Amino acid sequence: MEGGSELLFYVNGRKVTEKNVDPETMLLPYLRKKLRLTGTKYGCGGGGCGACTVMISRYNPITKKIRHYPANACLTPICSLYGAAVTTVEGIGSTKTRIHPVQERIAKCHGTQCGFCTPGMVMSLYTLLRNHPEPTLTQLNDALGGNLCRCTGYRPIINACKTFCKTSGCCQSKENGVCCLDQGMNGLPEFEEGNETSLKLFSEEEFLPLDPTQELIFPPELMTMAEKKTQKTRIFGSDRMTWISPVTLKELLEAKVKYPQAPVVMGNTSVGPDMKFKGIFHPVIISPDRIEELSVVNYTDNGLTLGAAVSLAEVKDILANVTRKLPEEKTQMYHALLKHLETLAGPQIRNMASLGGHIVSRHPDSDLNPLLAVGNCTLNLLSKEGRRQIPLNEQFLRKCPSADLKPEEILISVNIPYSRKWEFVSAFRQAQRQQNALAIVNSGMRVCFGKGDGIIRELSIAYGGVGPTTILANNSCQKLIGRPWNEEMLDAACRLILDEVSLPGSAPGGRVEFKRTLIVSFLFKFYLEVSQILKGMDLVHYPSLASKYESALEDLHSRHYWSTLKYQNADLKQLSQDPIGHPIMHLSGIKHATGEAIYCDDMPVVDRELFLTFVTSSRAHAKIVSIDVSAALSLPGVVDILTGEHLPGINTTFGFLTDADQLLSTDEVSCVGQLVCAVIADSEVQARRAAQQVKIVYQDLEPVILTIEEAIQNKSFFEPERKLEYGNVDEAFKMVDQILEGEIHMGGQEHFYMETQSMLVVPKGEDREIDVYVSAQFPKYIQDITASVLKVSANKVMCHVKRVGGAFGGKVTKTGVLAAITAFAANKHGRPVRCILERGEDILITGGRHPYLGKYKAGFMNDGRILALDMEHYNNAGAFLDESLFVIEMGLLKLENAYKFPNLRCRGWACRTNLPSNTALRGFGFPQAGLITEACITEVAAKCGLPPEKVRMINMYKEIDQTPYKQEINTKNLTQCWKECMATSSYTLRKAAVEKFNSENYWKKKGLAMVPLKYPIGLGSVAAGQAAALVHIYLDGSVLVTHGGIEMGQGVHTKMIQVVSRELRMPLSSIHLRGTSTETIPNTNPSGGSVVADLNGLAVKDACQTLLKRLKPIISKNPKGTWKDWAQAAFNESISLSATGYFRGYESNINWETGEGHPFEYFVYGAACSEVEIDCLTGAHKNIRTDIVMDVGYSINPALDVGQIEGAFIQGMGLYTIEELNYSPQGVLYTRGPNQYKIPAICDIPMELHISFLPPSENSNTLYSSKGLGESGIFLGCSVFFAIHDAIRAARQERGLPGPLRLNSPLTPEKIRMACEDKFTKMIPRDEPGSYVPWSVPI
Ligand SMILES: Cc1cc2nc3c(=O)[nH]c(=O)nc-3n(C[C@H](O)[C@H](O)[C@H](O)COP(=O)(O)OP(=O)(O)OC[C@H]3O[C@@H](n4cnc5c(N)ncnc54)[C@H](O)[C@@H]3O)c2cc1C
Ligand code: FES
Ligand code: FES
Repeated sequence: MEGGSELLFYVNGRKVTEKNVDPETMLLPYLRKKLRLTGTKYGCGGGGCGACTVMISRYNPITKKIRHYPANACLTPICSLYGAAVTTVEGIGSTKTRIHPVQERIAKCHGTQCGFCTPGMVMSLYTLLRNHPEPTLTQLNDALGGNLCRCTGYRPIINACKTFCKTSGCCQSKENGVCCLDQGMNGLPEFEEGNETSLKLFSEEEFLPLDPTQELIFPPELMTMAEKKTQKTRIFGSDRMTWISPVTLKELLEAKVKYPQAPVVMGNTSVGPDMKFKGIFHPVIISPDRIEELSVVNYTDNGLTLGAAVSLAEVKDILANVTRKLPEEKTQMYHALLKHLETLAGPQIRNMASLGGHIVSRHPDSDLNPLLAVGNCTLNLLSKEGRRQIPLNEQFLRKCPSADLKPEEILISVNIPYSRKWEFVSAFRQAQRQQNALAIVNSGMRVCFGKGDGIIRELSIAYGGVGPTTILANNSCQKLIGRPWNEEMLDAACRLILDEVSLPGSAPGGRVEFKRTLIVSFLFKFYLEVSQILKGMDLVHYPSLASKYESALEDLHSRHYWSTLKYQNADLKQLSQDPIGHPIMHLSGIKHATGEAIYCDDMPVVDRELFLTFVTSSRAHAKIVSIDVSAALSLPGVVDILTGEHLPGINTTFGFLTDADQLLSTDEVSCVGQLVCAVIADSEVQARRAAQQVKIVYQDLEPVILTIEEAIQNKSFFEPERKLEYGNVDEAFKMVDQILEGEIHMGGQEHFYMETQSMLVVPKGEDREIDVYVSAQFPKYIQDITASVLKVSANKVMCHVKRVGGAFGGKVTKTGVLAAITAFAANKHGRPVRCILERGEDILITGGRHPYLGKYKAGFMNDGRILALDMEHYNNAGAFLDESLFVIEMGLLKLENAYKFPNLRCRGWACRTNLPSNTALRGFGFPQAGLITEACITEVAAKCGLPPEKVRMINMYKEIDQTPYKQEINTKNLTQCWKECMATSSYTLRKAAVEKFNSENYWKKKGLAMVPLKYPIGLGSVAAGQAAALVHIYLDGSVLVTHGGIEMGQGVHTKMIQVVSRELRMPLSSIHLRGTSTETIPNTNPSGGSVVADLNGLAVKDACQTLLKRLKPIISKNPKGTWKDWAQAAFNESISLSATGYFRGYESNINWETGEGHPFEYFVYGAACSEVEIDCLTGAHKNIRTDIVMDVGYSINPALDVGQIEGAFIQGMGLYTIEELNYSPQGVLYTRGPNQYKIPAICDIPMELHISFLPPSENSNTLYSSKGLGESGIFLGCSVFFAIHDAIRAARQERGLPGPLRLNSPLTPEKIRMACEDKFTKMIPRDEPGSYVPWSVPI
């Protein structure tokens, strides 16, 4: 069918018309590529990250109201936007016109680091303020629920948002009747704001006020259009797809008759991801537009009728309204639906998704369908044949043809009946993360009793997540009718339902025993909830629930957050303009918030540009029998397909790559995700389509080694083994009171930088010069590998990095390989080539943090002193070496953390497996090694009957001491951090409070834990620490500074400008930094290891001092002059105004033969105390409070430093609690995007976060006595792990299970629930290991 309509919508107040619109185009690429509005970012393409958030506004001619809502541009087909107004981050403000208060405040409150998530955050907040200019904190937290940030840890973003709330000074937390303004909450001593310390990082007084009258108005033309009655069906078409938008019911039905197989797209949040990720293609799409009958909201005598097109967000508002107005007995179902609507996806998806789309798509983990099914809801259908009604029952959910919509039928509306007296409905769900995560299991339950008799008359129970569709336990429910509501009934119900809703051991999604346990745990919760209500209704008949068991009833939700910060004021003796020690905003903060900050893929298309995408291996270990590219090559737009054979002599070894590694695999693949071909085409769409047509035939090879245990069995290691030994371990074991042996397994972690791997390679057309624009941490490596592949000298290849949208170690080695292939393609065709990985490809190809297995044998005295420790570390390196051995080495050198073990031996192996090669990730081995040690200490404490904190203290370094590699160490600040953390967290008081809580609550437990931190800083060699800088002074007195460090969010450029400002006594505004380039700074080291500002800062300082020395005579002649005067005078006297600076690197060495050396320059000390509450029935946990005390030396910029600490802490918390990678037994990674892999969201951060810095201490060799803080905070996240551990221990003790408690990381809801053993975990069927193939394997 030919498309004939013209698409018309507005973007940022400007009319956009499109005659030949391609219905497959989503708004995100349209904005970015066609309109060149690159502020809206790509983070995942599947609605899961919020980076692409825009505001959509629509006018309703009936209500005469305009609806503004946030939406994910990545899932919004442009054809669906007819008559809508889209506002992007560029539309609300810019530095060229006027910045919007939202943009200003997020930037000035330090809510941006890498800035990649910021435009999405800004738009979510902006949309909230358009609807609620003075929002409540609850509205705020909800509004940001669909936006992920990997850098900041959310605290500063929340603080920025809070400035718009009416009562911004208060935490608004009235839990337990106290709030932050009440004195001494939880015993926290009040900080004194005085000369010495500061509590604030920004000043609200300077903020622009929010003035709603200044906002863009809704385009009058669109209102007039909407009012016009004479609209008719619009059709948009391309050669592949036709989009039909009927505007009346009649036309809709006609279209459905004509195209019965075409989906009816409403929000596109189900059809869109299916098309994108599952390759389901629809040649015709029907998308009704503003058909009144589909948007009805009718209150009838029996209940509520909601139109199929009503969005889930609107359903939420309608239900909230109804529950306020109607008596509770009528609104049981509405309350239950509301509960799920609060956590279902994020606000963007809830605003896009329709009720009809949700019901009809019948996702197996749908939150609403189980409830609607137990609630006797009915569906009103319409076709040209007429109306009919069908029940939303199990047959419908199973898509039985007799109970389903007919192909030509439309769902018009849904009837949701009122509940009756003696009828109760509840909703339950448990997900990996509390919000914006599909449920692992969810449930809707309804019971109806005879009048006051407590006898079950109707019972209906449905579960999601436990099968291919929503499952109803109808047979069990039938058998329970007529029974009284008591414990015997519950017992029978559990057994019946476990039998009826049976899950095979190999069920997709895994977590089978957890799911079985949730099935009965939810039932128990329902039993208690209903019992409690019955008791309230009729005190005499029903026994009351012992208060200890009431704890099963409440859900764990964090709603309000507050935080404090204490840092040292800048030195009073400093010059007033000296910015060192001040919380200066990130240099690009405002540009992040306005969308003007340019990332690699924001660079405009270069003339004749091509796009490159990869074809990767689908087998873990196989011979490549053949690669057939003919079909792919014949597709339109395809320019070339590269295989390893096109790279003769250059397809092997380079730098970090081992012999086994090739740029493109030719004969054999060693993991899923290994690069096999590169497809080059005129456009991204064409390249990706062609990649799907490349046919590779494999022949599987043995063995396939995936897990560390399999690697140990097969002796599959990378050489050499590493060992560190101190004292005499074997002798010491003979002297100790007790010995224990144990092990802990720790899962890996995905970097999840928000900007995926991105590069643009441009051949210059002269002298074989080539420019590589790339998002990378190691430009020199990119330069070298490119030069090698192109067989040119390095001076022909220049690598430029403006900024990086998060890296965390993931943009060092892998980026080099991708860039080399892209450069080869660009060189071969003499055309620019762009390569941007999609999120799923990125996660699959690039590997992440190494999973670890730690084995320990500890010899200790009964008082907790550990005298001998013998350890083995194994990491899962994946198929290639990468940095895995270095990770093992760093793990060994850092494993003792804050403790002096007088006799210590540890050996480490990097295991070669058939997984994508793992690589550097923030902390580099320490988060794993440290956890193993802390787990061992926790177990020693349990054996000694002592609190773990006591054993930690007993074994801690005592001031002047020696590390296992015989480096002198002074740990005075470690002790101070520990003591101060104890004091500020009121540890002793709160420990007692936790114990009291635990004794009074059976189903909820609290846990408290404190861990110390000693994080060594150094790179293992002097050369690895060298850094360089270049400073130019121009004749107008302005300065341009360049250095070798990469800006990836940590604010290094901001700090460098602060350094220049101090050294040259020049205002910040006179200094500029354009980016990092191998053209200005050659031979740079990778940016990482917490030392980027340390090292480059010393080089910048050196350059400034050289300049000052040269200019001293000139300045002395005219001391009152300006830099302009001095620069001109210097020029006139032929004095160079440009200088390089250099720092040779910290002294650093380690001899692995002797196990001795001085690998580290200094140590960062700290301590963190965390409190959590767990739900023993579901495995959920809530982070109640964290206190962190850090020794940061003298902070150059407290805002940036606290940002690093808390950002890393939250990333660490994710690592140790919810971030879980799942691999199939065939080595295929399942978790390839935010919808499967959960990084912390706003709902996960501690409700209270208190961070304080120790008073500054001298640190003679570092830049102004500062310390590098990029990585250390990750480890502090394990305080949450051990707090959960503490809570589980309490639960187990109460249940008579005092034995050793070994818990692996991450401590997910599954692990928490299964460790809290009880009658329900005993009740579930268990599968014999080996009797089934599990869905995933723990690698
Ligand atoms: C990032 C993300 C997170 C999510 N999180 C959750 C979650 O936590 N919990 C949860 O339950 N769900 C979740 N979902 C799923 C979401 O609820 C559904 O995708 C959504 O409700 C579908 O609605 P839609 O309007 O977008 O459907 P569409 O994609 O537009 O359509 C879906 C299907 O419904 C059919 N259809 C739609 N309307 C009609 C009609 N009137 N008559 C006949 N057929 C019709 C279409 O033909 C199509 O087959 C999530 C989805 C995403 C993308
Ligand atoms: S890019 Fe749209 S939600 Fe992630
Ligand atoms: S600042 Fe949020 S992802 Fe980097």
